[in-house]
Amino acid sequence: MSIKKTILSGSTVTGNLTLGNYIGAINNWGQLSKDYNCYYMVADLHALTVKQDPKELRERILSFFAQYIACGLDPNKNTLFVQSHVPEHAELQWILTTLTPMGYLNRMTQFKDKSSKQKEILAGLFTYPILMASDILLYQTDVVPVGEDQRQHLELTRDIVTFFHNRYGETFTMPKAYIGKVGAKIMSLQDPNAKMSKSDENEKAYVSILDAPKKIQKKIKSAVTDSETTVSFDPEKKAGLANLLTIYSVLTGKSIDEIVKSYEGKMYGHVKVDLAEIVCEKFRPVQENYNQLMKNQDHLHELMKTGRDKAREKASKTLKLVYERVGLI
Ligand code: TYM
Repeated sequence: MSIKKTILSGSTVTGNLTLGNYIGAINNWGQLSKDYNCYYMVADLHALTVKQDPKELRERILSFFAQYIACGLDPNKNTLFVQSHVPEHAELQWILTTLTPMGYLNRMTQFKDKSSKQKEILAGLFTYPILMASDILLYQTDVVPVGEDQRQHLELTRDIVTFFHNRYGETFTMPKAYIGKVGAKIMSLQDPNAKMSKSDENEKAYVSILDAPKKIQKKIKSAVTDSETTVSFDPEKKAGLANLLTIYSVLTGKSIDEIVKSYEGKMYGHVKVDLAEIVCEKFRPVQENYNQLMKNQDHLHELMKTGRDKAREKASKTLKLVYERVGLI
């Protein structure tokens, strides 16, 4: 019998889960549980790198957990858990922090991006990628399914494994990123040169998984495109339309060529109307599941506990091994 490889991934609890998160991550996660031993976490500790309202954060953690399940992650087939429920994440992070050069963290483009918008840069934002490495390494993860924006963090995780192994000997599985070929970077609906981000200040820039159909239609209708009219796929010159066609292709399984052909002689508006319908249809059952799940929050808390126990079983073993390797009693 072959032993299943391990997968871990997660999303940070800031803002609302978006169509970008769905296409680049969550939608792929659900399909992996057949072949892999999957751990999916709600990354709440990562969310603290941005100022949070405690009450809202608490509500959002539960909501993200319910959205994972509503999107098709079966808690019986995957280990679904909340990061802060497994204290080993923060403990391993400290050990890894003692091995990570500042220069490596300084190179992280997400850090440069986020810190450039802040008056005072907090240390947690700087060390955030080490917490991500800790998340991954605790489960002896083989594969990490993420969107394109996380590639650099995965490379850093691999560097950290090498630093650790050079000093203390083989301990961790070397993880690999799994980045889908299409849809790994869904762009903002308002700025086709920027990633669709759940923390965008402009709500029109993203579609959230829980947006009402009317809102989805409005946002897609007002998506920024160029002033031409012929429907064709050209990510350089027609980035906005190319983004809409990419979303269309991923959600329907049709090739871009096939989609472009079917709009011959038609205007961008037709693509937008149809795409809005496709997105609404995709999220309709997700929203129904979500509303059902949120009616029984005690059950969600029970599921969180089950996930926590399963996650801790693995995480505590790895941490014990690490403590032994580094010489702690
Ligand atoms: P986060 O919450 O920003 O995003 C969650 C997942 O969604 C992907 N994603 C996108 N994919 C395509 N197009 C987009 N516009 C888009 N926006 C986001 C992200 O690449 C990610 O896969 N630090 C991570 C969470 C995390 C994590 C981990 C991930 C914490 N620990 C360990 C993997 C392994 C984050 O903030 O993702």
